[in-house]
Amino acid sequence: MRSLLVFSILLALSACSRREPAPPAVHGDAVVGARLVDQFQCGACHTIPAIPAAQGRTGPTLAAFGRRSYIAGSIPNVPDKLARWLVNPAALKPDTAMPAMGVSDVEAHHMAAYLATLR
Ligand code: HEC
Repeated sequence: MRSLLVFSILLALSACSRREPAPPAVHGDAVVGARLVDQFQCGACHTIPAIPAAQGRTGPTLAAFGRRSYIAGSIPNVPDKLARWLVNPAALKPDTAMPAMGVSDVEAHHMAAYLATLR
């Protein structure tokens, strides 16, 4: 009985060690992204109708941002560019007033997925 237990533990352990590392999250999760937008307090500068606390006026409203063709007026609004924008806006538009917020690449992809749902 005990040897069966030991055997199954070993089997479980070896299955674990053979598991492939998780691929990077290139495609964001909109639900996670919504939580991150809230946590990073993007609403301090942006109005986001779906997030009642987000009433900021410093930046443009993000209402219907998913239907917008351009980020900050000139950058094509596609997921990869939007994620890059969220990590470091000045890298895409040097004179922008939006600061880098300490957002990681993975977090940015989740937030980009959320922003794309705003219609
Ligand atoms: C300190 C204020 C401030 C904070 C905080 C801030 N932003 Fe911005 N954001 C701006 C400003 C100002 C602009 C306009 C930039 C420009 O046009 O150069 C902008 C632009 C944007 C745009 C493009 C909007 C458009 O109409 O083209 C998006 C998307 C965006 N911000 C998302 C976010 C997200 C997501 C966060 C949180 C991680 C965030 N911002 C935090 C000030 C801020």
